[in-house]
Amino acid sequence: MSIEVQHIHKQFGAFTALDDVSLVFPEGQLTALLGPSGCGKTTLLRTIAGLETPDRGHVLLRGEDASNTHVRQRQVGFVFQHYALFKHMSVFENVAFGLRVRPRAQRPDEADIRARVMRLLELVQLDWLADRRPGALSGGQRQRIALARALAIEPRVLLLDEPFGALDTQVRTELRRWLRRLHDELKMTSIFVTHDQDEALEVSDEIVIMNHGQVEQKGSPRAVYDQPANAFVYGFLGRANQFHGKVRQGELHTGAASIRLPGFDTQTELSGTAYVRPHEIQIEPCPDAPGAHPSSPGIRVSLQRARAFGPLARLELRREDTQELIEVVLPSQEYDRLHAGGHHHFLARPRRAKVFAQ
Ligand SMILES: Nc1ncnc2c1ncn2[C@@H]1O[C@H](COP(=O)(O)OP(=O)(O)OP(=O)(O)O)[C@@H](O)[C@H]1O
Ligand SMILES: [Mg+2]
Repeated sequence: MSIEVQHIHKQFGAFTALDDVSLVFPEGQLTALLGPSGCGKTTLLRTIAGLETPDRGHVLLRGEDASNTHVRQRQVGFVFQHYALFKHMSVFENVAFGLRVRPRAQRPDEADIRARVMRLLELVQLDWLADRRPGALSGGQRQRIALARALAIEPRVLLLDEPFGALDTQVRTELRRWLRRLHDELKMTSIFVTHDQDEALEVSDEIVIMNHGQVEQKGSPRAVYDQPANAFVYGFLGRANQFHGKVRQGELHTGAASIRLPGFDTQTELSGTAYVRPHEIQIEPCPDAPGAHPSSPGIRVSLQRARAFGPLARLELRREDTQELIEVVLPSQEYDRLHAGGHHHFLARPRRAKVFAQ
């Protein structure tokens, strides 16, 4: 079932939580909603579920206005951000809950409930825990049971509000792969809230990036990462170095340096900030004597700190002109070569940059 929200506006007192949000979530896709704390992600999910009434705008489910459709009729499965399982009930009864509270006419019989719940527990690979209480489960197991409970009502739409928020990195990574496989099997339209960028980039078909109650950008993980619409998206989806200055005839003039920006439109001239990812900066040794003039243009930097383990070395370099720090990531082998030469002063050059005017 496709979901569409049109011009949704939601106010809490004087505070605007959602500001003219319009989005389409195509049938069968897994969309990640990403944004800083307080930007309105939960409010948007609750509005889609019918738990929150927008001040203006509409929610369309399968193309039809859902304003007058009650939460229960929306066929939405919801895993809440902070919503524990019922402690006094077994895992089995937790999953069965949504079926047992149905009006008598729609309630499956006991054998049917049993079969359905066990099928769901198998799906989340926890059928062997059916008789346990939630208190005797790990955090990751609890989240999978919460998901099984949301799926029990056979929802047309699955809304997941930071389902793995409280878990450690390794469990999260496992569970998000598992969630992706589950989604591919069930092919439900799903919206998944996270404020973990990697999680969003890895799991989803599409990403929506929100800030201050507004949508900043929507697109495939690749598109939002490679073609961020603005400085906020660029900075939010990964580490970013900023070089303030002017771009003129394909050259970036920043501090005391001017460097060619490869691939940059030579016709444009603008004042702004060039954003460069740490792995898109090239460094090479430069003469160590202060004030020495290197033959090729670049920004003179000195090494402050290096963390070199595993395949990548992460360097912190200080600009000699503005004293700003620059982060650079490069293959460890390359760093080892530079390090072996005893170099501490480098020339830094962006290989690729995105410039946003100011
Ligand atoms: N019932 C409410 N009454 C008043 N303000 C609210 C209410 N619900 C949410 N807000 C405010 O609306 C804003 C958006 O809240 P929301 O829960 O949607 O953020 P979020 O993006 O889910 O954040 P987080 O990542 O921390 O969960 C916040 O500033 C919050 O304080
Ligand atoms: Mg939230």
